[in-house]
Amino acid sequence: MQKNTPLNLLGGLSPAEFMKRHWQKKPLLIRQAIPGMKPLIDRTSLLEMLESEEVESRQIVRNGEKWTLKKGPLKRKSLPSLKRPDWTVLVQGVDLHNDAVHALLQQFRFVPDARLDDLMISFATDGGGVGPHFDSYDVFLLQAHGQRKWRIGRQKKFELQEGVPLKILKDFKPEAEYLLNPGDMLYLPPGYAHDGIAVGECMTYSIGFKAPRSAQLASELLMGLSEEMSEENSDRSGSSLDVIYQDPKQTAAVRDAAIPAALQKFALQAVTKALKNPQILNCLLGEALTEPKPNVWFDPPHPDDLGQWAWPCTVHLDRRTKMLFDPKHIFVNGESFRASGRDAKLLQKLANEKALSAKESSFLSAPAVELMQAWWEEGWWHSKP
Ligand code: SIN
Ligand code: CO
Repeated sequence: MQKNTPLNLLGGLSPAEFMKRHWQKKPLLIRQAIPGMKPLIDRTSLLEMLESEEVESRQIVRNGEKWTLKKGPLKRKSLPSLKRPDWTVLVQGVDLHNDAVHALLQQFRFVPDARLDDLMISFATDGGGVGPHFDSYDVFLLQAHGQRKWRIGRQKKFELQEGVPLKILKDFKPEAEYLLNPGDMLYLPPGYAHDGIAVGECMTYSIGFKAPRSAQLASELLMGLSEEMSEENSDRSGSSLDVIYQDPKQTAAVRDAAIPAALQKFALQAVTKALKNPQILNCLLGEALTEPKPNVWFDPPHPDDLGQWAWPCTVHLDRRTKMLFDPKHIFVNGESFRASGRDAKLLQKLANEKALSAKESSFLSAPAVELMQAWWEEGWWHSKP
């Protein structure tokens, strides 16, 4: 993907221009972002997905001013009639389950993988929607089937309605209104209020992004650090972070309940020492960012096929695999590995392209091939696409 090439997907803007002018800043309506757009999954298959335990989904029904929310899995037969207006179902992470949807999501890789989240598909009958709300993350709303009317507004007041099972704005003040046809797309930055109402039966694809929240990320990293510190002679730092407080210079105490200043200093040092090692933090961050979602399961090769391991071969990452890297490490599905030289170059290529040719894979070192075999046994990649 070229940064400076104008893309139809972005209404003739290049990824560089889009990121500079719109990303996290202002909406963009793109007519015919995908000309001739046809839904990649038909209604029946989408509604069948609702029944699966592995799929995150929800149903929202509006009855006048009253909203009801049901979380999936949902039985197809339990859904309201297709003739009933004002209801919608939303299926999260469809890219994890369908190759064509996964391929569509790849078109949005002008944003770093670490920020790309998933592709959600909503189906709605006439009048259906999730109500006026705002999201905390950027989103591209791509119309896949039928029409949807979007009303959007820069909202100053974010107060939510009380007593409803959804996050619905109390006082939505739309500033613009657009009717989207199949192939049209609307980009909204975080915090931009919006309300999408189906005009007839419709399907909308939401390309969603994720951004860590500082408190949650800090808690995840600190938890990882504490595990790291308790592992003696931690292999990442090369030396043990776990030392015992010593006070050979402590003077005699006489019923002294005051905490010694040296102990307070020790506590501060314990934390700063752990935080000072960027390698550990970088590792923990990469592991957190590639951690598969809780409903993700890989399909390892059948035990009878394990004997068929042959190297070199073409490598295609499984669509569920998350692979990122930094200059010193490769991160795959919540694990981190140090890599350097040619191995690092090849594994970085695998993370970027999600594939390696048999020729390229033949250049990996013996320890890297051992890793590749372990990942293959986990079902993290396949030799056929
Ligand atoms: C929808 O597809 O109905 C909801 C998408 C959104 O507003 O974020
Ligand atoms: Co939204």
